[in-house]
Amino acid sequence: MLLGLQHLLGIETLTREQITFILDQAKPFQELQRNPLKKLATLRGKTVAIAFFESSTRTRISFTTAASRLGADTMNLQAEASSLKKGESLLDTVRTLDAMRPDAIVIRHSSSGAPEFVSQRLEIPVLNAGDGTHEHPTQALLDALTIRDRKGSLEGLNITILGDILHSRVARSNIQLLSKFGTRITLCGPAMWIPRELESLAPNVRRSFSVEDALSGADVVLVLRVQTERIHEPSLAPEEYILCYQLTPARLRLAKPEALVLHPGPMIRGLEIDPAVADGAQSAVLEQVTNGLAIRMALLYHLVGGAPPDAPHPAKG
Ligand code: NCD
Repeated sequence: MLLGLQHLLGIETLTREQITFILDQAKPFQELQRNPLKKLATLRGKTVAIAFFESSTRTRISFTTAASRLGADTMNLQAEASSLKKGESLLDTVRTLDAMRPDAIVIRHSSSGAPEFVSQRLEIPVLNAGDGTHEHPTQALLDALTIRDRKGSLEGLNITILGDILHSRVARSNIQLLSKFGTRITLCGPAMWIPRELESLAPNVRRSFSVEDALSGADVVLVLRVQTERIHEPSLAPEEYILCYQLTPARLRLAKPEALVLHPGPMIRGLEIDPAVADGAQSAVLEQVTNGLAIRMALLYHLVGGAPPDAPHPAKG
């Protein structure tokens, strides 16, 4: 149990205390990534089912690696190579996996709400690895850990989120999380991707359609992937997006001098982000990936292991 949590379905329903607890618990697992020996035996004998009904590189590998570094086995479902292709329903597929008795299930699905639906029907912990345009809670947690490490605290920061906010579960989870810590959030991108309703997602959220305005004074710039299938003429040509919204070195200079650049990946270099920014000193993109492992290990450790709060320090155990 994780401060009363049985599943990780989204950030919206978490309290600030629960989020802080998860971020604090990730600390020893961050240390562990620096050790020559990275494997623990904490979850030996446990099995984590990884059911991805949508393609993924980093999130899938990160969850699989996190489980294996805790000593757990994994059961992998890959949508492209499964009976889903033959028309099996989500519920039948997860019930089949469940019948092999995993101790938790990690789900990515293109439908918003799929992990919650499954959590109401299975007895084991469910972890949301991204559902439709709804939430991607582990991504927001790893982003928060990265920001907290670099900035000392989340409190009072100016965060700018750049891109297709409307279709982004990463943006939604980040908005939910960061607003609980009193940050000021500016959403910026083409008007069609930033409807007014987004301002009512959480307190202290505003929209801006000028990238110069949105970046000025930012402590953190979160750049989202532009989905190439959503960017075409006549509504929006890629050249127009690049011209108006790409994060370039010149634009980044409008933010605070030490502003941090985040991107959840996969990055489309030359579209939403200039390669000089992606690889620049202010980019924390690879740190985000490493922190993803620590966050997912902390979550599996607590949700699957059910470790009591006074359990031995995992890095030393
Ligand atoms: C994101 C996702 O799939 O939601 N990627 C990720 O998990 N790191 C973002 C994206 O695909 O644009």
